[in-house]
Amino acid sequence: MKIRESILKLGNYKPPLEGRNPKDFLLMDFNESPLPPPAHVIEALVKYIQDNRLQTYPAYGDFLALLGDYVAIDPGHLMLTNGSDQGIDISLRALLNEGDEMLMAQPGFAMFFQIAGTLGARIVSPQYRSDMSFPFEEIMEAVNPRTRLVVVINPNNPTGTSASLDQIRILLESFPETAILVDEAYFEFTQHTCLSLLSEHQNLIIVRTFSKAFAIPSLRLGYVIAHPSFIGQLYKIRGPYDVNMVSLVAARAQLEQPAKWQTMIQEIMEEAKPMLEQFFKEQGIRFYPGEANFMLVEPDNVKEVIEFLKNRKILVRPMRAPIAQTFRVSLGMTEQTQCFIDAYSDYLKI
Ligand SMILES: Cc1ncc(COP(=O)(O)O)c(C=O)c1O
Repeated sequence: MKIRESILKLGNYKPPLEGRNPKDFLLMDFNESPLPPPAHVIEALVKYIQDNRLQTYPAYGDFLALLGDYVAIDPGHLMLTNGSDQGIDISLRALLNEGDEMLMAQPGFAMFFQIAGTLGARIVSPQYRSDMSFPFEEIMEAVNPRTRLVVVINPNNPTGTSASLDQIRILLESFPETAILVDEAYFEFTQHTCLSLLSEHQNLIIVRTFSKAFAIPSLRLGYVIAHPSFIGQLYKIRGPYDVNMVSLVAARAQLEQPAKWQTMIQEIMEEAKPMLEQFFKEQGIRFYPGEANFMLVEPDNVKEVIEFLKNRKILVRPMRAPIAQTFRVSLGMTEQTQCFIDAYSDYLKI
């Protein structure tokens, strides 16, 4: 048996997932929703199962219409995927041959590097600047005839920073033969989107997810927004039933009754986030003020801080090179943020 060379060369993408029980820990390490889905979502799931709906294969039409209303686009521009990870996977598979270049700034969401690696694509990665701003000029300069795809994560995980709408427009206009994929996983927290550019630019691909604000990462639902001709190509790659109906039941309940998740976002972004920023400022701890529901923090002794917090039952995410001196903390509700601040304050006293 002969495994492809590009796979043999690759390591696993193994996020530290084990033992993350929300009953045991305050989970501030995976940019998840700090609250479980509201009761009406659970009721909808129970009803779906009790109505004996599990025995039929999925059908997506009704949900796509609802999602089209939410996104404010014709459903022909949408494809549902098994998490946005699958949206990324099938988009890259549609675009990249072995040896083609994918251009994406570092540090960035690891799945892009992993998937491009499986395809044997060449990855070109300018660095985010020292203030963590998007390296626009470096990206513009790095595009060459072998570049098939430019990835922009808006806002970027883990830096929290974004490329501006103008910068995305310039990329789309300057390189009309190159796909520009914008990952908007954190859209609900920022309300910033480049959707307005889609009607004029067929080379724009947007991916989004129900794993963050909508609180159902375990059910795996994401979607791609793109020109119908690209969506048509993706349908050749995604399996006809790859998205499970249970995820759609939960997502429908969230979209039809948005009050709970919207209130949650408001508290996270307008109360908890300023509170945490103020704490870091008062304590003279360096952090990078991003736009999303997480923050990159650069304390003097990062390993010690992470370990101290873990002993206090708070998980944050250690970062790897080139930002190994930082950790990423996902924002919680105000009360949870106060717990984090209390624990960090105790650390500062030792
Ligand atoms: C920028 C970004 N894109 C995509 C994802 C993947 O989300 P999903 O659970 O939809 O696969 C994440 C998850 O952390 C992310 O941070």
